[in-house]
Amino acid sequence: MVKANLSQLLLAWYQCHGRNLPWRFKDGAQADPYVILVSEFMLQQTTVKTVIPYFHRFMARFPTVQDLARAPIEEVYQLWQGLGYYNRARSLHATAQMIVYEYGGIFPSTRAEVLKLKGIGPYTVASFLALAFNQPETVIDGNVMRIITRFYHLSQPIEQIKGIIYQKASALISHSHAADYTSAIMDLGATICTPKKPQCLLCPWQNYCLSKDLPDVEHIPQRKKPAKKEQISAVYLIYNHAGQLLIRQRTERGLLSGLYEFPWGNNYHFNQEPYDTGLTVTHVFTHIKLILHIYKLYYLQSPLDDGFFVSPLELKNYAFSTLMKKVWQKAA
Ligand code: ADE
Repeated sequence: MVKANLSQLLLAWYQCHGRNLPWRFKDGAQADPYVILVSEFMLQQTTVKTVIPYFHRFMARFPTVQDLARAPIEEVYQLWQGLGYYNRARSLHATAQMIVYEYGGIFPSTRAEVLKLKGIGPYTVASFLALAFNQPETVIDGNVMRIITRFYHLSQPIEQIKGIIYQKASALISHSHAADYTSAIMDLGATICTPKKPQCLLCPWQNYCLSKDLPDVEHIPQRKKPAKKEQISAVYLIYNHAGQLLIRQRTERGLLSGLYEFPWGNNYHFNQEPYDTGLTVTHVFTHIKLILHIYKLYYLQSPLDDGFFVSPLELKNYAFSTLMKKVWQKAA
């Protein structure tokens, strides 16, 4: 099967069956790089279904890259609340500022320039250039990986065949319709070539796929999931005499930085015994499963120098992670 026919088959399928996603530019419409930038940041590590309402709210509040660049980071966090991986919000904001203040509002369109922006790695540079500027980039996400390994029946563990997958995926892309091809292959993976029960009879590539109807199709690609490490820790709801609660802003780098939280961790020591509520919350991050035991403390005699008290009704004015919202919902 020649490559041209495969990409044509896929593009024709996409015309009829591609998803209508709010960040999509179909039927030859010129893409808006800002829309692509925001959506690609949100879609890093998050599913399409989760992203859609966040994307609408974000674009309503920051319709242009200038609006985003001018906004205080606190507002960006507010709109990101619940999406997780908050370093993305920080990087997106920094990237918007670079585009506005260093590039005069004109989005860069070369690989080298785009890679200088914050929060853009090898995956996002490729998806951004393909989707925003129709450049023939090879975009490999989980969907594409699944399609390629099944199409060529590559049943070895994916860690061993990443190079081959890249070569095969590259050889298939459409150079004339790079953006549509990129969206199309993602959609094929999301709706037809699904991890379980792929719908091979609806697939535009079914006549050429080496895995079609094979009993092992669901086992391709072969990936080993490392067990998530468990981490057990404590979170403290600390009340003062006015019934206010102590919160702090997380300044530590990495996970959840910039968000507000109740003090938590294994390094807090108080001069009175915290009351063990017996309640826990569990939250799964990329590599760890965190189990937090919830403690309460009343009228702390020597308050922490880190943090400040707010009334429970004011909590909604601060950007909390999903983890901390769970704590509050459980223990309030
Ligand atoms: N995942 C990453 N980018 C995507 C996009 N543009 N559409 C659907 N899923 C995606």
